[in-house]
Amino acid sequence: MERPGRVETVRTIRHLRAEIVQWRAAGQSIALVPTMGALHSGHIALVGAALAAADKVVVSIFVNPTQFAPNEDLSRYPRDEAGDVAKLAASGAHLVWAPPVSEMYPEGFATHIVVEGAALPLEGAFRPHHFCGVATVVCKLISAVTPNVALFGEKDFQQLAVIRQMVRDLALPVLIQGVPTVREADGLALSSRNQYLNADQRFVAPMLFKAISEVARGRDPREAAEALIAAGFTRIDYIEVRDAETFGPYVPGAGRPGRVLAAAWLGATRLIDNVGI
Ligand code: PAF
Repeated sequence: MERPGRVETVRTIRHLRAEIVQWRAAGQSIALVPTMGALHSGHIALVGAALAAADKVVVSIFVNPTQFAPNEDLSRYPRDEAGDVAKLAASGAHLVWAPPVSEMYPEGFATHIVVEGAALPLEGAFRPHHFCGVATVVCKLISAVTPNVALFGEKDFQQLAVIRQMVRDLALPVLIQGVPTVREADGLALSSRNQYLNADQRFVAPMLFKAISEVARGRDPREAAEALIAAGFTRIDYIEVRDAETFGPYVPGAGRPGRVLAAAWLGATRLIDNVGI
């Protein structure tokens, strides 16, 4: 029985599956929105698209330790489960699945999914273990929920390509749907990590979107990187134009979709963004 404005939270795969079995018995389709919590309007847009795509929407909240390197921000990653659940209740989601680490990686866990192809350059080069952690957890989330469709934000555009590759390669019976990036009025892509920015950094941050948009219009990526440093960015990991599906080199005029992707640091905060060309 659904109560508007309330959403149940389950912790175990057993409880999750007990819900799923009932929905399936009633002939209902299921959408999965995987998240790491600290939800913002971008996540709520994913839930909105999920509600349009299926009868029931499961949102997972799990800060996945295996996609963080030891020197990354796992321990300070923002967590606010009560706030997240309140937002999800208001969004119309049907079930929150918030497993503990021990449920996802029980004692003796020893299976990892290594995706190559689209996973190798850019994020894959700067964060070598990242996509293995993402692919492994997303595969487990999909296998537990057995959704008809799983939705991911285009903000993590390379992640979306890696997940599509994994789903294709493993013939997982799920449709992967990308959802456009939600931006602040000044162009900054919404991200849970924006919370780390101080006022000065927040002022400079929208320059990243401006820079990649200029590259999409033909500006040299090296010039765009220099402009970002001049504006106050501390370091640029990459600004590159890639084939939007294979992540190999982009060949202008070859009739294939291209994407400008960037990762850049403001102090201790790493921002990523991308736009199509
Ligand atoms: O994009 C994210 O929030 C995470 O990488 C995901 C897909 C939930 C896997 O942990």
